[in-house]
Amino acid sequence: MAGTRRSFLQSSVVGATLFALPRSLMAEALDSIRTTFDKAKMRSPEDIATDESLWETVTRAFDLEPGYTNLQTISRGVSPRSVIDAVVDTFRRDNDIRSGGNLVPGREDAIRKQLAAYVNCVPEELAITRNTTEGVTTVLCGWKLQPCDEILTTTQEHEAFYGTLARLEELNGIVVRKVRLPVPATSPDELAETMETAITPRTRLIMVCHIYLTGQIFPVRRLADFAKTRGVKVLVDGALSFGQIKTDLAELNCDFYAASCHKCAGGPRGTGLLYVRPEHIAALPPLFGHIDISTMKSGDHSTAMEKYERVGTQSQAMELSLGPMLELHEAVGIERIQARLHYLKQYWAHQVEGEKNFRFTASLDPRLSCAALGFDIVGKKWVDVAKPFRETEKIRISGAWIDGEYGKPETWREIILVNPAIFTTRPQLDHYVTALRKVAHA
Ligand SMILES: Cc1ncc(COP(=O)(O)O)c(C=O)c1O
Repeated sequence: MAGTRRSFLQSSVVGATLFALPRSLMAEALDSIRTTFDKAKMRSPEDIATDESLWETVTRAFDLEPGYTNLQTISRGVSPRSVIDAVVDTFRRDNDIRSGGNLVPGREDAIRKQLAAYVNCVPEELAITRNTTEGVTTVLCGWKLQPCDEILTTTQEHEAFYGTLARLEELNGIVVRKVRLPVPATSPDELAETMETAITPRTRLIMVCHIYLTGQIFPVRRLADFAKTRGVKVLVDGALSFGQIKTDLAELNCDFYAASCHKCAGGPRGTGLLYVRPEHIAALPPLFGHIDISTMKSGDHSTAMEKYERVGTQSQAMELSLGPMLELHEAVGIERIQARLHYLKQYWAHQVEGEKNFRFTASLDPRLSCAALGFDIVGKKWVDVAKPFRETEKIRISGAWIDGEYGKPETWREIILVNPAIFTTRPQLDHYVTALRKVAHA
């Protein structure tokens, strides 16, 4: 492989292929994934999910550190080799004087189309952003609300967004109401009803996650349908769901959706997307002001999603490297990925389910959780588990804090968050379960 890579770089820098697409060095690995999964096309995703030999071809697409078990891609994603190579190669081209800044004409449009197809919307409804934070903040700060209008959300959102919400309260007189979702919920309806019954005549905007830090999948479609009957807009934070479960924007029926590609999907660090329902684009200004050069006036009310991408100079390497991420997902298929991730979650969780002291924060029902699963162990703090995992067992996990009050750190509940990825193997989960029992009973 090293030889192949070197010769590719040489030919790309000095040869006629300078401005060609950074054709994936992983073509062979991708072909092998395609062939392997094509051969299995008559089998159901649930059947394929249990077949280790098929998934080994996916694991081989990643350069993983031997001996380490990575169960934290929900907070810190890992890209396949094809994405990393594309980033490096594109960055190199971007610095080449002969490129003139126009690396691959038409490539961005092609990627937008591919991404739009992946999330089932039209390219004109999609902006490529740097992350979920950018997309969510664009909506929270840009959607016009009057003093005393309400934003309804939960006590389980990403902590940074409470800062933005507090600022809206302070500067604009917006009222922010936070609902405590049941943990774990026993049905999707229970989650939806908790939000629906909290809507008041002053509610204008609802913000929910598609997958919460607890691992719970929120029934977005049901809430979005209900909110429409009340004239309330719905913003969905897809940071943890994108690449883990299917994102079908036509099906979700929400008004705004923001996600990061660099977590579960394995995209380059610093890539995300923002979807805005077409009828809202003119009314939602971008985070940064800019001038529309055809009128030399503010572009705030433009109907082109491009306005959300005007964030000053940035590397094209990240956006142009979304192609290999999508190729891998297309080669395997998101339904199969979702089924595999759910299977891996069940594989480890069933082994400790019911054991003294373990409390899951999501049901194992596939309608209520996929790969990500939160839990706590009575009497143990996150660090009591994470430290020996890191130092002795070479296992990486995430932690999360939920259900607390803004400005009162002592009120937050600490949970452990674990998510297998598409490259995770069963032997790694066996090692993890053994280690978990060891720390739980220490
Ligand atoms: C639920 C949730 N939303 C949003 C974010 C922010 O994602 P990003 O840093 O990619 O913008 C995070 C980060 O971990 C998160 O957990």
